[in-house]
Amino acid sequence: MKEQPLSTRREKGVAVITMDNPPVNALSFALRERLDAALRELAADPAVQAIVLTGTGRGFCAGADITEFGKAPRSPKTIEIIETIESCPKPVLAALHGQTLGGGLELALACHERTAAPGTRLALPEVKLGLIPGAGGTQRLPRVIGATAALEMIVNASALGSAEARDVGLVAEVADDPVAAAMEFARDLAARGAELPRTRDRTSSDDRQAFEAKAESLLRRARGAEAVAAAVEAVRWSLELPFDEALQREQEAFQRLRDGQQSKAMRHLFFAERAATKVPDVDLRRAQSVNRAAVIGAGTMGVGISMSFADAGIPVTLVETSTESLERGLGNVRKLYASAHSRGRLDEADMKSRLSLIHGTTDLGAVGDADLIIEAVFEDLGVKQGLFARLDEIAKPGAVLASNTSYLNIDKIADATTRPDAVIGTHFFSPAHVMRLLEIVRGRRTGTNTIATVIAAAQRLNKQPVVVGDCPGFVGNRILRQRHEQGEQLLLEGALPEQVDRAVMRFGFPMGPFAMLDMAGLDVGYRIRRSQGYDLAIADAICERGWLGQKTGRGFYSYREGARTPLPDPEVEQLIVATSKRLGITRRSIGDDEIVERLLFPMANEGARILEEGIARRASDIDVIYVHGYGFPAWRGGLMRYVDQIGLRDVARRLRAFAERSGDQRLEPAPLLARLAEQDSSFAAWSHAQAESSTTDKGQAV
Ligand code: 3HC
Repeated sequence: MKEQPLSTRREKGVAVITMDNPPVNALSFALRERLDAALRELAADPAVQAIVLTGTGRGFCAGADITEFGKAPRSPKTIEIIETIESCPKPVLAALHGQTLGGGLELALACHERTAAPGTRLALPEVKLGLIPGAGGTQRLPRVIGATAALEMIVNASALGSAEARDVGLVAEVADDPVAAAMEFARDLAARGAELPRTRDRTSSDDRQAFEAKAESLLRRARGAEAVAAAVEAVRWSLELPFDEALQREQEAFQRLRDGQQSKAMRHLFFAERAATKVPDVDLRRAQSVNRAAVIGAGTMGVGISMSFADAGIPVTLVETSTESLERGLGNVRKLYASAHSRGRLDEADMKSRLSLIHGTTDLGAVGDADLIIEAVFEDLGVKQGLFARLDEIAKPGAVLASNTSYLNIDKIADATTRPDAVIGTHFFSPAHVMRLLEIVRGRRTGTNTIATVIAAAQRLNKQPVVVGDCPGFVGNRILRQRHEQGEQLLLEGALPEQVDRAVMRFGFPMGPFAMLDMAGLDVGYRIRRSQGYDLAIADAICERGWLGQKTGRGFYSYREGARTPLPDPEVEQLIVATSKRLGITRRSIGDDEIVERLLFPMANEGARILEEGIARRASDIDVIYVHGYGFPAWRGGLMRYVDQIGLRDVARRLRAFAERSGDQRLEPAPLLARLAEQDSSFAAWSHAQAESSTTDKGQAV
């Protein structure tokens, strides 16, 4: 048992305070209380000339304790401790390592100087929690690195490494032993007896025009996120207002955001992302490490998946059947890396080292030494089964055999092998080297160690894993089918693609459903509908004209040669209007609110079925899937959280009205949604209760 979240020691006149609050030294009330007391005691102790503040474990400090945000704030607050540090008559230095985030970096910024170990990550990621830095970060960071750079760092939640931090003057020295380096600095400062450098006394100056231009471009991409606008305003105060007044305003803005819906939703998502990696019968300590991977199929998905491995420093063998297809795939890899390099996102050395990790071959036998083999070939069960039978012969014992199928049955693929426990679905999202979601599909016979290995591999690839059960379309695409069907229905009843897309983008998605379909290619859905035996009159008619989306220059929209901007297409409009007429539907005007409800409520309704069937373990897993795989606005917390917030009674009522109007019984509230609505409960409460009672296996699919 740990006595206290902090320890102190003294060495030749310098006191070292070490924060020790696992796992990430979050500034919990207990830590703040001890830190405040230690600082006051050491400041008053005549035997102490200077103080060094450091942390043990994974990092210096990951900031405020997020679990405390819902509770009444208690003194000493971080901002008060910071005041104590900055006004201390003795030098206080911060010795940083590992994660130095949020309130952790704000503490460091108030110190009189900073040293850092190699590998330190310095960031103010509060915006990702729907907040702005609330302990002086919006005022002190601009005073050290300039307002424009600070604004960019805060809004993008981007991190600086140790060397970069030194180059911009955020740390004085990078040293293998940052505590020793800080002690030396501290003694030096104390010996000089000069006035101590305080960040608050510096001025935040910058090219005002450059600042406003950056602010404008960041705001344009904010898509409704309040914290971005608040961050812009707060950093601008550093250029305009006296320090104390700006600090006061920062505090007020922070509190307003902390108590608002957006931050609550984003905090929900923070914990949802972490919960998604936890599956009760899967022990992550049993994960096998993946030192070599193989990807079969060098199409768009195979290329993106291979790049994800190379980006994580894992060698990967990319297999194709013909030299031409292989060369085309490798050419695409080179093109994508070259474009990242030309946009300044990847330096030349990194680009070369990543390229050298991808080995192309036409010899399937080359995958024999891979720990994880991912198949990304044509979506056809027979083709996949044939391939898995061969992999069964070639792959080394213990290797994971994964399929990137987006809707085929994992059990049937596993049937083709003698090791069904090693077979699993890894559903990546396009572009696979960019999109963070990885739906991990658990077949009925998938082994728990196989799942553990894939979760751990996903984390190494910087992906967000969510384990789901096996059903057509798994979780994400099964829910998305509702959006396709309702989107089509809206077109039939009176809306046009551009109106639907505009309403959805206003809601906060980066792209509307029809523009997205055009981007993905309309033939994919068409083929799936044929194989599953259902049709969509308008989408099918568009496909049958050979308009397959961006790649053919026409789809739901038309596109100018080489451009990707969707332009409303009068012929598509005619086709839509004619189809309504042919089906005897009188077109009416449909408002944006109805469009959003009509698309999202049936999706959440499908989510309810998925939960009841045990295909998803918790409502928050669906939230994570929708935010990281489908562009659902993070500040709304995800699909199921969104309808929980509206209230399931209202949602059920609207669904009944949609069902009545359209005569489509599938729009009636699913049994779970209806039950929760009746009890005035929520998906979150239901998931919580399920988790409490599922310590014993309830035979759920996931
Ligand atoms: N408060 C409370 N718990 C935290 C936390 C925090 N700030 N940061 C991490 N945790 C918890 C996680 O929930 C997780 O708990 P679990 O094991 O029960 O699931 C555990 O610590 C480990 O976290 P991760 O699984 O995320 O571990 P990683 O090593 O992958 O990542 C990390 C570590 C990079 C520190 C990551 O956890 C992270 O980004 N944390 C949030 C950092 C952050 O946003 N800080 C700003 C907070 S707001 C603030 O400081 C306000 C200030 O301006 C006043």
